[in-house]
Amino acid sequence: MQISLDTKPFASLETDALVTYVFENGDLTQGRPAELDKLTGGMLSRLSKSGELTGKSLETTLLHAPAGFKAARLLLIGAGKREQFNPATLRKVAGAALRYLKARAAHKVVFLVREGDSTDAVAQAVTESAIVSDFETDKYKTDKKNDKFIETFTIAGFSEAEKAGGEKGIARGRIIGDAQNFTRDLVNEPSNKLTPKILAEKAEAMAKEAGLAVEILDEKKIAALKMGALLSVAQGSVEPPRMIVITYTPANPKPGAPIIGLVGKAVTFDTGGISIKPADGMEKMKYDMAGGATMLGIMRAVAGLKPNVKVICVVPSTENMPGGKAQKPGDIQTAMSGKTIEVLNTDAEGRLILADGVHYAKQLGATHLVDAATLTGAIVVALANINVGVFGSDQAWTDKLLASAKAAGEKMWQMPMDDEYREFIKGSFADIQNIGSGKGGGSITGAWFIREFAGDTPWIHLDIAGTAWNDDAKPWLAKGPTGVALRTLLHLIQSF
Ligand code: BES
Ligand code: MN
Ligand code: ZN
Repeated sequence: MQISLDTKPFASLETDALVTYVFENGDLTQGRPAELDKLTGGMLSRLSKSGELTGKSLETTLLHAPAGFKAARLLLIGAGKREQFNPATLRKVAGAALRYLKARAAHKVVFLVREGDSTDAVAQAVTESAIVSDFETDKYKTDKKNDKFIETFTIAGFSEAEKAGGEKGIARGRIIGDAQNFTRDLVNEPSNKLTPKILAEKAEAMAKEAGLAVEILDEKKIAALKMGALLSVAQGSVEPPRMIVITYTPANPKPGAPIIGLVGKAVTFDTGGISIKPADGMEKMKYDMAGGATMLGIMRAVAGLKPNVKVICVVPSTENMPGGKAQKPGDIQTAMSGKTIEVLNTDAEGRLILADGVHYAKQLGATHLVDAATLTGAIVVALANINVGVFGSDQAWTDKLLASAKAAGEKMWQMPMDDEYREFIKGSFADIQNIGSGKGGGSITGAWFIREFAGDTPWIHLDIAGTAWNDDAKPWLAKGPTGVALRTLLHLIQSF
């Protein structure tokens, strides 16, 4: 899909479809709607009077051969109430329009922004959303819908003076949208096509192509470094673990800026181990590497966006399998940090591999940490598939992330981290235990476990178990991996 900006008068653009957004109970006598109404000889007013055009969120009104336009079709998409309109709504509207037109075999699409929306940020958001909404999960289908594709996506409504800015926005949006789809591609891979070893190879290839420093620790190096928590999860599988380390170093580092450590859980398949999961729905546990894939996608984008901060990405990867060599409930393991862990449930494996990942990121020099993980079913109970669960040890650092989430249009909700919860994971026979002692708050005890390894280093944990996978297709997004948290973290990284 080619994305570009065209400053020619929009009515003169030859295209399969021109789309713009209208507000609920919007005024048709002013601004862009008035222009469209006039061009079409009052069609918008007539549709509005008849009740067909209301502007309700994601309502679609398709006009064929619209009078006054060179476009073959004019699509009006509802953007809901003007007071509630924000960058997140704009993304949904643009994505839904693209998917609607793609399904109707349009190949060339023009997206017309409203008066006042011809900004760099809007060009970036619309570009990201076009790329992300265009993504399909049909890689392994032999009968692909090859006739349904968007060839060109043109943004209109910008003046000549606004063009350079808009094009910068498109360039940034393309880097970010492509990175998000890179993450989704990885998450979409089933576990037989994506073992820890293959993930590491793909990460290494990406890093080399992007010009990033990369080191892959194999099982021998992992053992030499005494990463006992990661090894304990990996020991049940015939597939060896990997620790992926990718580093971005800015040309002109900002003095006093943090060194950001990104740690992502990459369990390429989580059976639960000896504490095995029920069969129903287990197939979804191929997405238990979404946190790691998100961090890899972020690094891919960081290489192109060139922020002023150093970023170290650490992705521990393993399978979690039962077997003759698997760890068993009650086993005591020693993490890289030296802390001893009583493994009461082998299905609480994400926190184990993150313990070593977080410790290693600190050792490599990270001053501020963020981890992302499909960590708990409990966060799905608490926040469903709507909000990412945010846990933090340092409110200033957490506030920065929450502000970035807002700006990026991703829903995130901070969870409590009171000291009382820490008691739940006090060990009976080792320093700590890997599950809480039966008092609920499962997502919080999971977070506290990781925090034990972050220590005094400002740290944020994102539990994306509920939000990394879309069970049903949305008008603006395919079913399957979402790539959630990538845009928020890129915004955070670029805020220095
Ligand atoms: N990968 C799962 C968490 C998960 C659940 C991800 C649902 C996506 C959707 C994690 O490793 C896990 O099994 N967590 C356990 C922890 C429990 C044993 C304390 C859980 O949530 O049940
Ligand atoms: Mn598990
Ligand atoms: Zn897991």
